[in-house]
Amino acid sequence: MRTEPTRIVVVTAGVSNPSSTRVLADELAAATRRRLDAAGVAVAVEVIELRELAHALVDNLLTGFPNAPLKRAIEQVTGADGLIAVTPICTASYSALFKAFFDVLDAGAIVGLPVLIGATGGTERHSLALDHALRPLLSYLRALVVPTGVYAASTDFGARGGDTAGLARRIDRAAEEFATLVRNLPRTPVTDPYQDVVSFAELLPGRAG
Ligand SMILES: Cc1cc2nc3c(=O)[nH]c(=O)nc-3n(C[C@H](O)[C@H](O)[C@H](O)COP(=O)(O)O)c2cc1C
Repeated sequence: MRTEPTRIVVVTAGVSNPSSTRVLADELAAATRRRLDAAGVAVAVEVIELRELAHALVDNLLTGFPNAPLKRAIEQVTGADGLIAVTPICTASYSALFKAFFDVLDAGAIVGLPVLIGATGGTERHSLALDHALRPLLSYLRALVVPTGVYAASTDFGARGGDTAGLARRIDRAAEEFATLVRNLPRTPVTDPYQDVVSFAELLPGRAG
């Protein structure tokens, strides 16, 4: 029987402060928590703000190595039971910051991980970026992306009479699909391919020193 809470990790790539992407990410996490709570599942939510890791991500792309905070973020994601991944739309696709994070993950790092995708944008007309950009990226990494992705344009946040009820419905539907997947597909932890490597000392008995 499982004793630790189900770990939902949120990766958010907004760069503004306050960030509408973060607001959407928090709404998606809250709706997921409600669904899992209702099913009697204990949940722990962890949020990763990629803005704080921007320099580390570029350094990783140049050197091939993550610094300690980035390594920790990568471990949070690879050890999660479910991932909520949200990006601002930039030039009709995910932002460079969002892509950089997935570029530094090992190819097998999120195989089988349930993922809920979301995006924010200045125009409603770029909502399909969820399906032509985010979904293929995560499918390539063999994550399990739920059917409903949630797009929120500036108008959806209600400032100018936007369809906030419509956004709330989409968030609820996506969270229901995501929570169902998380509950029914317990994750097998990713194993380190080098953990069982035989040491040189064992390979060469009597030759050490
Ligand atoms: C360089 C850049 C390019 C953008 N390109 C698009 C775009 O193609 N389509 C769109 O709908 N919004 C675009 N936007 C607007 C952002 O997606 C939108 O403001 C987003 O909600 C900002 O998120 P944040 O508040 O979390 O930083 C762009 C913004 C920037 C800075």
